[in-house]
Amino acid sequence: MDVISFATGNTNPETFPIDAFAEAAKAAVAGLNVALNTYPGSRGHERLRRLMAQREYDREGVEIDPEHILVTNGSMQAVTLSIEATLEGRDRLVVLEEYCYVGSIRYFESMGIEMAGVALDEEGMRMDALAETLDRLAGEGCRPACIYTLATYQNPTGAVMSKSRRLELVALARRHDIPVVEDNCYGDVHYDGDKPPALYALDPHPRQIYACSLSKIFAPGVRLGYVVARPPMLEKVIARRNDAGPNTLASAITHEYLKDRLWNHIETANAALRIKRDTLVTGLRRELGNECVVSNPAGGLFVWVRLPDDVDPARLKEIAVANGVDFAHGSDFHVRRDAGPFIRLAFGYPTVEEIKEGTARLGSSLRTVRGSAS
Ligand SMILES: Cc1ncc(COP(=O)(O)O)c(C=O)c1O
Repeated sequence: MDVISFATGNTNPETFPIDAFAEAAKAAVAGLNVALNTYPGSRGHERLRRLMAQREYDREGVEIDPEHILVTNGSMQAVTLSIEATLEGRDRLVVLEEYCYVGSIRYFESMGIEMAGVALDEEGMRMDALAETLDRLAGEGCRPACIYTLATYQNPTGAVMSKSRRLELVALARRHDIPVVEDNCYGDVHYDGDKPPALYALDPHPRQIYACSLSKIFAPGVRLGYVVARPPMLEKVIARRNDAGPNTLASAITHEYLKDRLWNHIETANAALRIKRDTLVTGLRRELGNECVVSNPAGGLFVWVRLPDDVDPARLKEIAVANGVDFAHGSDFHVRRDAGPFIRLAFGYPTVEEIKEGTARLGSSLRTVRGSAS
């Protein structure tokens, strides 16, 4: 039996515009002789940077000088360059939501950077808990490198930080004079309602650093993201870069494809993802019963589920994989790897039919686990 996977935040192959992208590739490559025979430099493809500045203006209402953007190898490189810039002269500790993207957690662990996890709820990082953490660290003589936050469509919980909390975060960062690295990987993957502006749009101070991606709304395989920072932080980020710049070919083709249809592309991609989200949420609510709490994210690619206390997510995963469905264990996303009874389901990649079949398989796996527990 083929395993239906809800484990990874891949995107939707059904809305990837393969023919139009091939045409864009042909048009872009024709003009690239000089650009491909020279190194791209720290900032990367100028026209893509201009387009991304416009994207941020349209979405977040913030004016960005394209010279303040560095195109990166996905937003993961944007995050690592940003964190490394903030480490200069500060302690090897970051303050972050206690549930966080597993790739960032692994990066912090591999770099020997400690993590101070802050509790979060459906409005994102809790500001009382953040204030307490910053006061405690200051009391211990610690100067954390930064606050690293996934304020919008938090991975894994899907939480969106409210505007009032964003303003409180900005104020706390100012009071403690601590840089903020905002990871807005899912910024355009948006389904319902209004969304508060990015922290970068709420605070013009150079302590705000902003990372964004083309992975989730376009394709992770193009490996394009960017970091935005204002001087003098910008120079610190640039100083961390030692890879001779981002991929010119991927940048040029992606720019050629998106330049006249960025928002059309985003609308088409989101409309299909919204159907997948609805199918997953409805299926999970029907199959898992009232004792499971199933999120209904306004954006992003993940549904976060709280299982009943008597269900061990690791045991459920074992049974589920044997029954042909996979998901991510909540503990992978916890800074101390002790999430409790949570699981995360990614809905971007599987088809609607697979989502229906996958939720049925998950429901029957849960019933098996509960039957054996009682
Ligand atoms: C919150 C967050 N940040 C960064 C990344 C890295 O994405 P990419 O490097 O593909 O832009 C991911 C990927 O899932 C993510 O969820």
